[in-house]
This record gives sequence, C-alpha cells and structure tokens, in this order.
Amino acid sequence: MWTSLNVCIIVMVIGVQSGEVAQWQQQKEKVVSALFHQQEAAWGVEVLQQAARQGNLDAESDLTLARLLGTGMTQDIAGAAASSSNLVNVGGARAHTTQGLLLSHNLTGTSLTKEERHSQAVWHYLLAAMNKDPLAQIMMGGHYWNGGDCEAALQYLRRAAVTVIPTAREEAISQNPPRYLWAEDDNTPSIYQMPSLDEFQFLEYSAMTGDPVAALRAGIILHKGVPDVGQDLAQAAVYLRQAAQANSTSAMVMLAAMHLHNSVAPDRDDTLDLLQTALILGDKTAHTYLGLLYLKGFGDVPKNLARAKKHLEQGIRTGSVEAFYLMGNVYEDPDSSGSPEEAMMMWEVSATFGHVPSAFRVAENYWQNLQKTVATTVIPESSSAVSENLCRKALPLYRMISLSGSWQYLQEAAYEDYTKGRYAPALLKYLLLSDLGYASAHVNAGRLLDSGITGVYSSIEAAQSEALKVWGRAAEAGVATGHLRLGDIYYYGEGVPRDLEAAATHYGDAGKLGSAHALFNMANMIEWGVGVSQNVTNAKVLYEAAYEAISDAYVPVSLALLRMDLFLAINSTLGFDLYYTSWSPTITRHTGLFSTLDANIPAWDIVAMVVLATVIVVMITARHRR
Ligand SMILES: *[C@@H]1O[C@H](CO)[C@@H](O)[C@H](O)[C@H]1NC(C)=O
Ligand SMILES: *[C@@H]1O[C@H](CO)[C@@H](O)[C@H](O)[C@H]1NC(C)=O
Ligand SMILES: *[C@@H]1O[C@H](CO)[C@@H](O)[C@H](O)[C@H]1NC(C)=O
Ligand SMILES: *[C@@H]1O[C@H](CO)[C@@H](O)[C@H](O)[C@H]1NC(C)=O
Repeated sequence: MWTSLNVCIIVMVIGVQSGEVAQWQQQKEKVVSALFHQQEAAWGVEVLQQAARQGNLDAESDLTLARLLGTGMTQDIAGAAASSSNLVNVGGARAHTTQGLLLSHNLTGTSLTKEERHSQAVWHYLLAAMNKDPLAQIMMGGHYWNGGDCEAALQYLRRAAVTVIPTAREEAISQNPPRYLWAEDDNTPSIYQMPSLDEFQFLEYSAMTGDPVAALRAGIILHKGVPDVGQDLAQAAVYLRQAAQANSTSAMVMLAAMHLHNSVAPDRDDTLDLLQTALILGDKTAHTYLGLLYLKGFGDVPKNLARAKKHLEQGIRTGSVEAFYLMGNVYEDPDSSGSPEEAMMMWEVSATFGHVPSAFRVAENYWQNLQKTVATTVIPESSSAVSENLCRKALPLYRMISLSGSWQYLQEAAYEDYTKGRYAPALLKYLLLSDLGYASAHVNAGRLLDSGITGVYSSIEAAQSEALKVWGRAAEAGVATGHLRLGDIYYYGEGVPRDLEAAATHYGDAGKLGSAHALFNMANMIEWGVGVSQNVTNAKVLYEAAYEAISDAYVPVSLALLRMDLFLAINSTLGFDLYYTSWSPTITRHTGLFSTLDANIPAWDIVAMVVLATVIVVMITARHRR
C-alpha cells in the first residue's frame, strides 16, 4: 500500500513540475480535504510537503493551517504564525485564513487591541475568500450576517456552498449526533447514541456466528460510518447480504439502495428482486428505492417515470425524506408532466429535513429570484424588501450546505485529539469550528478553555476572553450551558467586570431552557436579593422547579429549602433577619459535572444550619420551660 502511495505522490509531483496545473488542482482538492480527516491527514500532509518542496506556494500555504490545527503533523502554533505571516506577502489563500484565525484568537503574540486584531483578521479572511478558500468564505458570510448585511453574507456563503455541493451525498442519511467532551453537555437520547468499538466488535462476532439481527445492525453501522468504527461500504454490503438472506426486509432495502446509489458494485443482479421481495413481505420503505430504480433505470430495468412516480407517492407516505427529493427530480424531468414549481415544493420539504442537494436547489431558486427582483423592479424600496425576504430564506440553506463540507470531519478529529490527551490541537480545531458556526464546537471549546488544560494561552485573561466569546455564541445558539456559563462569568467577574444583573439575566435564560443548575443559582440570587430584588416566595418556587427539572438536584434543593424555612422562622419568632448578614448566596460555578451542584455547597451552609437548628431547639425548649 505504501509503495502505491509513493508512486502516487511521485506522479503528482512530476505533474506539478511539468506545469500540469489542472491536474494539481484536481489532486489538491482531495489532499486538502484529507487534512480534515484524522485517518487521512498524514497522507495529505506528506503530499503537500512534497509539493511545497518543489516551491508550490499553495501547498505551503495549506500546510500552515495543518500546522496550526495539528492535523497530520505535530501542532506548532508559533511556527504556523511565522510561516503564514511570511506567506501572506507572496500569495496563498490558506495562509491568509491561518493568519485570520491566529489574529481573531489572539495567538499572534502581538500587542494589538481586540478591535485591531478583529479588523486585521477580517482583512485576511477577505483576501482568502476572494482567493476561493471556502473556510474564509464561510467566515466572511458570518461577518456580514452579524453586521446585518444579508446580501453580502449570501454572496460568500453561496460561493462556499457551490464548492461543497459536488461532494454532497444524494442519499438521505441521518447525521451522527454531535459529540461533547463533557458528558453532561450531551443530551442525545440513548437510542441515538453511537456504538463504541467494543460494542461493534461484539455485534460483528454475533453476526459471524450467524445472528442475522446483529448482521443487520453491523451493516447499518458500517454503512453510516460512526466515529469510532469508521465507514466500510464493502463490508456493510456483506453483512446486509447475510441479513437479507435471513429474510430481513430492512437489509434487503438497504442493500438495494446501496446498489442504486453506486455505493458498492452489486454482487448479484437482484436489486429489483430484493426490493420486490421486501415489498411482498410488507416493508413499505422499499417504495422509495423502487422509485429511484425506475427514475434512473438500473441494469436491465429501463427508466419508467410513471412507475417511479407511483412508487415515490407511496414512499412519501412512509415519511421518507429521500422520496420527496426524488419526486422533485421526477417533476423536474422534461418527460414527466410535472412543473418546476411542483419540483421545488418537493425539494422544500426534503430541504427542511437537512437534505443537502434539495437545500441547494431551493436556495438557488431563491437566489435566481433575487437576481430577477434586483434587475426588474422599478420602485427601489419595494425591491429591497422583497430582496431582503428572499435573502433571509436562502441564507440558512446555503449555510447548512456550507457546513456540510469536509471540514465538518474536524469535529471527529478534535474529539479524538481530546480522548488521546492532545488538548491543544483539540482546542484549535474547536475554535476554528466555532468560528465557522458549529454549535457543539462552541461548547467544547468553552469547556477546554475553562478547564485550562490546553496550555495554549499563557495568560488567564486571554483564555477568559476567548471563553467569553465562545460561550456567548453557545448562548446565542440557544444552548442552556452557554447562558449558565455566562451567568457564572458575570457573577464572578471572570475576565469581565462583575455584573450581578447580567448574571441573573443569563441564569434566568438558562433556566428557561431547562437548566436545573441555573434555576438553582437564580433561586439563590432571588433568595438573597443579590442582583435582583429579594422575594423568598419566588425563590422557593424556583428551588422547586430546579428539583422538578432534574432529580439529582434533590440534595442541594432540600438543603436550600430547609435553610429558607429556618431563616424565615427565626425572622418571625426572634425578629432576627439572617438575610441581612454578610453571607453571600451559594452560586455554584458550572465547571464540569453536575455533581458540582452538591459538591460545591460550601461548608458554611451546613455549619449555619446546624447552628440555627440548635438555636431553634434551645428557643423551643426555653418556651416550654416558661
Ligand atoms: C425466508 O422466507 C421464505 C419465504 O417466506 C422461506 O421459505 C424461508 O425459509 C425463509 N428463510 C429464513 C432463513 O427464514
Ligand atoms: C491577548 O494576548 C496577550 C498575551 O499574548 C494578553 O496580554 C492580552 O491580554 C490578550 N488580549 C485579550 C483581549 O485577552
Ligand atoms: C413576590 O412575588 C410574588 C409573585 O410574583 C408577589 O405576589 C409577592 O408580592 C412578592 N413578594 C414581595 C415581598 O415582593
Ligand atoms: C423579616 O421580618 C420583617 C418584619 O418582621 C419583615 O419586614 C421582613 O420582610 C422579613 N424578612 C424576610 C426575608 O422575610
């Protein structure tokens, strides 16, 4: 294998030397996308290094990003900063992207202000975007969108989407759920949890000893390609064949679908048979793929739009996303009786389920209407309202398409870095992904920055300033933990001036999103009247809500309620208001596990309660004596 790889490299380098730019460009895309996959990154780096040694500036430029992120090579942030700052003067789009990243995350070691760094970063991204780097185009899209300029944002995101779309898969495969470094950030229902390598190996073992259910599951996993196991279409087909022979209709349908999508070459000429058998055995999901088979024609079976349509109608009834997409394709076909409008309606449905090729068609339709509106409207005001509306519809679609590019696999690479203890490369990858707009990356980057384990930032202030940024994005994306952490940041003044009102607002927002921890902290602030007006009745309600939200909160909530009752009893009997003391509320910082909720209950709380309980006992005894 290594020899064939070397031959391939040599062929490539010769190609570069002899000036076959087109060939290098073609190869380059493959190599650059390899950088985002943990398993292929080392190969990509090797090819780029060969090309760089021949004086290829683009390759050298791509290497600066690999060096910064630590993909396929050892991470060297200072080295990446030095080489990219040299390269930006002589061209190379990715070097600008690398510089942009370094500047926006305060990693260049300059004494520039935040604003200066930001504007320089934007300038670098702009140059890289104009030189066709999709990463920079996505950054520029985000920049203009934040600045309220939809049309400029659309220009850039569309360009990135156009780059991505040739690699998009037509089959509707559900996305793997995002992976979180801190277990409590992960609220994926357990049925969607991905199997570990051990679990998969057990499945394989069961399949080999003849268990068709295990064979089906192993086939599904290998087809989808879950992170710890990887994708292996050929082996998936073998397992599916095994399950299909044991009359598993799901296996029959999946295997036929793989043939139709050209994922594997058919091992037998029975694709139509498989689907028809599944249908006879009562599996209606076969309709969608019979639709696909007749839409394109397959093997000896000729194309037949009427049949395709009939099956796809049934497929749509089963709720298949792909059936909507394919039905759109039927309507689009000039031989069918359908109209482009009908086709668009179908694609709009599949686009809302995240089907990338559908999303592109719908977005392009908005885009074309936008161009027409701009060109034909006489009254500028009405034109701009219509354009804005079209732009706002197209933008999220282009954005979704852009984020389905090969850089999405950096999420897996970053997760693996973390599990292998390579914290700094994990952080840099998550920072890039967070800038691009992946919600789980905001959270993971925030966790790494908070934990201080990466050693990337030597000054606490710099790390806190980055953490504030990513948690702010998480909060904006509607992640409860983002608000909770912002609450802590403002409560304790971590890198920002202490602001109790802001803290209360963020705890309140996190509470609304269902964070028990935030409800608890909010209750505490209301109980003590810190940052908000005191109201013990409301505090009690919130404590109880925290307990409702998560039963783990039982211990801290009961302690807090007990304390409240004692304080109120003492106030009403002894006239001694313990809320007017120098004690402060028990805000628990959300640093990691939820268990911090009870672990962080400070000792004084317990001590105070013991003391107060004693006081009450003494008091009651005294009354009785009297
Ligand atoms: C599959 O189904 C067919 C027809 O219903 C039956 O004859 C055959 O025995 C079944 N095979 C297995 C392995 O269950
Ligand atoms: C940027 O990093 C420098 C150290 O390299 C640090 O002194 C400075 O405070 C950081 N800036 C911000 C806004 O955190
Ligand atoms: C506390 O809030 C409740 C409900 O919002 C209100 O009825 C009550 O008057 C408040 N108590 C105080 C002391 O402000
Ligand atoms: C304590 O009692 C006083 C009057 O007896 C009352 O004004 C005050 O609101 C009470 N404090 C609390 C926290 O209930």
